[in-house]
Amino acid sequence: MKMKKSWVGLLSLIAITAVGCASATGTVSEESLGLRKTNLYTEDNTKPDEGKYTTVAPGKAKTFDRAFENAPPMIPHSVKGLLPITKANNACLGCHMPEVAPSVKATPIPPTHFTDFRPKTVMKGGEVIKEGKVLGRDIGNTSDIKLAKAKKLHTLYQGRFNCTQCHAPQAQIAPVVNNTFQPEFRKPDEKKRSNLLDVMNEGVD
Ligand code: HEC
Ligand code: HEC
Repeated sequence: MKMKKSWVGLLSLIAITAVGCASATGTVSEESLGLRKTNLYTEDNTKPDEGKYTTVAPGKAKTFDRAFENAPPMIPHSVKGLLPITKANNACLGCHMPEVAPSVKATPIPPTHFTDFRPKTVMKGGEVIKEGKVLGRDIGNTSDIKLAKAKKLHTLYQGRFNCTQCHAPQAQIAPVVNNTFQPEFRKPDEKKRSNLLDVMNEGVD
């Protein structure tokens, strides 16, 4: 019985390969290759869907469910007048810093954003030292440091200053390909809140 089954598998593999080869001999026009049904060498006749960004002001918007457990939440409100974010001028902090957030009913910036997870790196005597280990002598590369020691900070970790690098404002568009992904949340409240700092080492420790 076992033998028979694998023969059926092998035969169907041959059949699939044959079909694949046959279609490869036909001519495929460039316009039919991708989702963009125009000449690939010009920008003529390309009308990108620029979408309609929400105009709902902060405080009036309804938050979206998270895309998956501990995904960065999408921005539900308008960001008009709030961008670009610079290190010196970050309007998001005015409402989302944990000390002000409750008073304006905004979600507070989570503890992960006040933590530095990167290995401490210094240059000494022409050597790169990561978490006290000399690169190239004690360790091969950064990935050899299994887990960098997380350093809790009192201020926002500056590797996170540019909020829209990860949190995106949302627009009404007609997607060329629909997303059929269905997230599964282990706890129902994870649809609306993250707990990444508590579960950071899950599966590692
Ligand atoms: C005037 C206050 C204010 C400012 C400024 C502001 N927000 Fe918000 N934000 C809110 C409030 C309030 C909510 C909750 C939804 C609502 O009521 O609009 C929110 C929701 C969010 C959410 C969704 C949180 C969740 O739990 O789903 C994200 C992400 C977010 N804001 C990011 C930003 C970013 C990035 C900026 C800067 C570009 C910014 N916000 C500027 C008040 C503000
Ligand atoms: C490098 C990517 C990145 C940047 C930059 C970043 N965030 Fe996040 N943010 C995340 C991720 C991932 C989560 C969900 C996991 C977590 O809590 O860390 C999150 C979660 C949040 C939440 C939800 C907290 C909760 O309790 O559910 C808020 C609010 C937020 N971020 C605001 C901000 C603001 C404001 C900035 C800019 C100062 C910012 N973030 C910058 C990736 C980022």
